[in-house]
Amino acid sequence: MATPSVLVVGSTGSIGRHVVHAAALRGLGIRALSRDAARANRAFAGIPGVEVVQGDATEPASLLRFVDAVDAVILVHGDDSRPEGVDYGVVPALLGALNGRRPHVALMSSINATDASGPYADLLTWKRRGERLLRASGLAYTIVRPGWFDAVEFADDRPVLAQGDTARMGGVRREHVAQTLVEAVLTPSASGRTVEVFSGPGSPVSDWDALFAATQADAPGSLDGALDPPNLPLDGEPARVVADLERFGKRPPR
Ligand SMILES: NC(=O)c1ccc[n+]([C@@H]2O[C@H](COP(=O)([O-])OP(=O)(O)OC[C@H]3O[C@@H](n4cnc5c(N)ncnc54)[C@H](OP(=O)(O)O)[C@@H]3O)[C@@H](O)[C@H]2O)c1
Repeated sequence: MATPSVLVVGSTGSIGRHVVHAAALRGLGIRALSRDAARANRAFAGIPGVEVVQGDATEPASLLRFVDAVDAVILVHGDDSRPEGVDYGVVPALLGALNGRRPHVALMSSINATDASGPYADLLTWKRRGERLLRASGLAYTIVRPGWFDAVEFADDRPVLAQGDTARMGGVRREHVAQTLVEAVLTPSASGRTVEVFSGPGSPVSDWDALFAATQADAPGSLDGALDPPNLPLDGEPARVVADLERFGKRPPR
């Protein structure tokens, strides 16, 4: 079988760099996207299987050149100052660029995505809208919501999955976020699931299939993750979001 390949959007970020390393450790072919290829080439020099590609992931035409022949896409982009344009906008741009191709898409979102309150409410709600559009797309997907980066104890060596978005605090090693995303695109039982990821005491995961299988799959046709509260009614959503759901959704949204 040919080596599976993955496009990493946000490859130069604090999580993306770990994704590239984790994917290389699993022997994947890696297409690492950045708006600054020179910077990315410096970051990934010497890592086997990495091809750096340059483009803006908010532009479907830019992504179109790089989605060909990849088995999976891992989205770890982010720009807290442009949540609609970037955190959300990359998702419809990708779906537009795919044009019938069907890679497994793993999307990094955030804990508290379903809790639209506080200073990050706008950012988190746009991340949730990106999640919902991906669920509606009909693609194989996994949505990973990390806890607070690196707010962990010394012995927190084990990635821990949770659901329902109820843990308002809780930390996760950046390496565990990356590993969860990479294993998600390699593990059949991860498909159609939305999970939070934290780091806890214990040994590293040896059976990712069992770990994902122990979580609840998202309800087919639902815009929300399993156990998410139904607190973002479609009839209050921005026109752009409804239009994207109609354009890319495979089923009537509910
Ligand atoms: N801090 C926490 O505890 C925490 C917890 C949960 C979730 N989060 C979320 O995690 C995200 C931050 O992750 P991080 O630390 O890895 O981010 P980061 O270091 O700021 O990296 C952001 C990445 O996004 C890419 N990017 C931005 N705009 C792009 C565009 N138009 N086209 C292509 N790529 C683009 C950048 O790539 P180039 O510059 O190379 O193009 C960069 O690689 C945030 O969205 C945050 O909300 C944070």
